[in-house]
Amino acid sequence: MAVPFVEDWDLVQTLGEGAYGEVQLAVNRRTEEAVAVKIVDMKRAADCPENIRKEICINKMLNHENVVKFYGHRREGATQYLFLEYCSGGELFDRIEPDVGMPEAEAQRFFQQLIAGVVYLHGIGITHRDIKPENLLLDERDTLKISDFGLATVFRHNGRERRLNKMCGTLPYVAPELLRRAEFRAEPVDVWACGIVLTAMLAGELPWDQPSDECQEYSDWKERKTYLPPWKKIDSAPLALLRKLLAESPGARIAVADIGKDRWYSRPAGRGVKRPPAAPRPDSPGGSRSPLSQDRTRCSTSQPEPGTGAPLGDGGPRHEPARAISFSQPARPEHMLLNSQLLGTPGSSQSPWQRLVKRMTRFFTKLDADCSYRALQEVCEKMGYGWKKSCTNQVTISTTDRRNNKLIFKVNLVEMESKILVDFRLSKGDGLEFKRHFLKIKGKLSDIVSTQKVWLPPS
Ligand code: ADE
Repeated sequence: MAVPFVEDWDLVQTLGEGAYGEVQLAVNRRTEEAVAVKIVDMKRAADCPENIRKEICINKMLNHENVVKFYGHRREGATQYLFLEYCSGGELFDRIEPDVGMPEAEAQRFFQQLIAGVVYLHGIGITHRDIKPENLLLDERDTLKISDFGLATVFRHNGRERRLNKMCGTLPYVAPELLRRAEFRAEPVDVWACGIVLTAMLAGELPWDQPSDECQEYSDWKERKTYLPPWKKIDSAPLALLRKLLAESPGARIAVADIGKDRWYSRPAGRGVKRPPAAPRPDSPGGSRSPLSQDRTRCSTSQPEPGTGAPLGDGGPRHEPARAISFSQPARPEHMLLNSQLLGTPGSSQSPWQRLVKRMTRFFTKLDADCSYRALQEVCEKMGYGWKKSCTNQVTISTTDRRNNKLIFKVNLVEMESKILVDFRLSKGDGLEFKRHFLKIKGKLSDIVSTQKVWLPPS
């Protein structure tokens, strides 16, 4: 099936999936510009049309360096297409090494950008309500962008604040008052979630399942038992900030505008935190990063470089093989959207070598597709995972994580440059847990994981 409204745009790769539908990377055939397209099937839920209308309405209000840009939308029958800034650096959670985190200076820079975005949103009366590393994307220069306004709402209008009563968000990131009170203020709830994100960046783990007194880890935090993990992994200066962010009483919690005065937050950046160049060389390893590397310059040679890649078997017109091309955000969005409301002028260009989002949960194998599939199946069955073939070259794997929460991920086997890429994508559950399981599986398959460099020709 051809994509009707985007004759000039190929949907080249799935960037993400969720209850709403999916996000695809769209590339313009002529100009080679790249955008992310969120595809929402409005028949999925009765409240979907209303929710998507609100998401679009809020997106139209947004314009900030640390918020994913909205280019416009278009409806085709029951399907809504939202055109968004493409963030080729992937999700923040891909920069977090499970149980370790990331270098403190890098966490500080990401946290400053997150707070800049949240200050902006609160300034225009918007609360995101689902801040977590999966919703924090990175562009080609590692600039953090707050993404997914599907749960966002207006909490201040014409200078008048309204309290919220709807419980939403993701349990490990929600503030305690949301579980306890019928009504609560919006801003402190987002501030709390930023504190959990900072903990994840500095310790590589989430502190608790939920902030309630039945949760031992939460009681330990309130009793200031910071000799326990994750707190014992965190230096005293950022820990002092976490005390202010994760204060139980929303009234005692630091206001987002005051975070700038914190000693650790405003500490001059340490040396050695480099931003990637705007256009890395194709032959330099900086184009693909080690999944869990603390030092971004260390990298695994087995990670795929951006290049050609078609799903095995049926490529299908909606998933054109990506070509070796140059890439930029659309300079003329009217090429992309016929008849829809167009908003803003998209910004900076992307490097040709950052065409495919850098997801790190993938590896090449030394075997052919059949043998790779069987090796993966054997390991997963031995590990007691649920195994279900979803379609050609894709399996759905299910398990429970160490907090006993459901974890579902999909694995695609893709032929690239006549090698087999085993590509894992989280479908449901916690991102950090997903990565722990990915590493365990990869470890068990170490004898078939290829460490050979993949060469891709420049365009
Ligand atoms: N996944 C979801 N939204 C995305 C975007 N805008 N860019 C890259 N990956 C995404």
